[in-house]
Amino acid sequence: MAKKMLVTKGKDYFPAQEYLIRDVSKDFHTKYGFIRAEQLKKKQGKVLTSTGKEYFIFEPDFLDLYRKIRRMPQMIPLKDIGVIISYTGISRKSVVVDAGSGSGGIACFFANIVKSVSTYEIDENNFELVKENIKALGLKNVKAKKRDIYEGIEEKNVDLIMLDLAEPWKVLESASKALKTGGWLVYYSLTVPQAQQFVKEIEKHDEFIIARIIETIERGWKMEKSVRPERTVIPSGFLCFVRKIK
Ligand SMILES: C[S@@+](CC[C@H](N)C(=O)[O-])C[C@H]1O[C@@H](n2cnc3c(N)ncnc32)[C@H](O)[C@@H]1O
Repeated sequence: MAKKMLVTKGKDYFPAQEYLIRDVSKDFHTKYGFIRAEQLKKKQGKVLTSTGKEYFIFEPDFLDLYRKIRRMPQMIPLKDIGVIISYTGISRKSVVVDAGSGSGGIACFFANIVKSVSTYEIDENNFELVKENIKALGLKNVKAKKRDIYEGIEEKNVDLIMLDLAEPWKVLESASKALKTGGWLVYYSLTVPQAQQFVKEIEKHDEFIIARIIETIERGWKMEKSVRPERTVIPSGFLCFVRKIK
């Protein structure tokens, strides 16, 4: 069924209201009254609620749909996904392996821009969720695997291995075999001790070098009469970038 985005202009950093409408055959209720189904069928343009509030309607893009996928395990924030893409340079030619899939967030985001993604998940419920999210986003190049990545990586000649799980050092032997020379291993760590342990284990492998360890901070700004920082996305994790050099 066709989905639509419905947005109204807000006075702050973000739109005041932003909805993904999943069923355009029914009237839609907003904070400012409802919009009749006939108006929702419009391809794009202005629509009015029952109280006269102005909204704009258009077709959702990948990001609109991505932001509404169902979540169970916490997804890597967009601010960090952007940094992972820019520092590894992955592109439409890249082959990516991801673990654990969790909600499938980063696997799906990567799949939208790379050649193929294999995502490993050990937990049955999360595995089912990942398949549901892949389907909801209409992605054909991402393979969800119900597997423990600590038992090995099946793919070869991989450009990026993305790890978001508790004991990434258990993957180093198989990551070394799976990655192409020049390929990347990125670990998203929630704690300093885990990042430290990861670095210590990497140093035992002379085929890997640590390229950088960073955190990112996103700060929104309010630009009205007064101009001031408004909303900060706090560092939620440390990104450890490792490169296979031989
Ligand atoms: C924080 S979530 C990952 C979230 C994901 N990066 C996203 O953006 O949606 C961590 C996931 O790793 C899974 N996991 C933990 N150990 C694993 C293993 N050895 N092999 C595969 N998956 C594992 C957990 O079940 C959990 O779903």
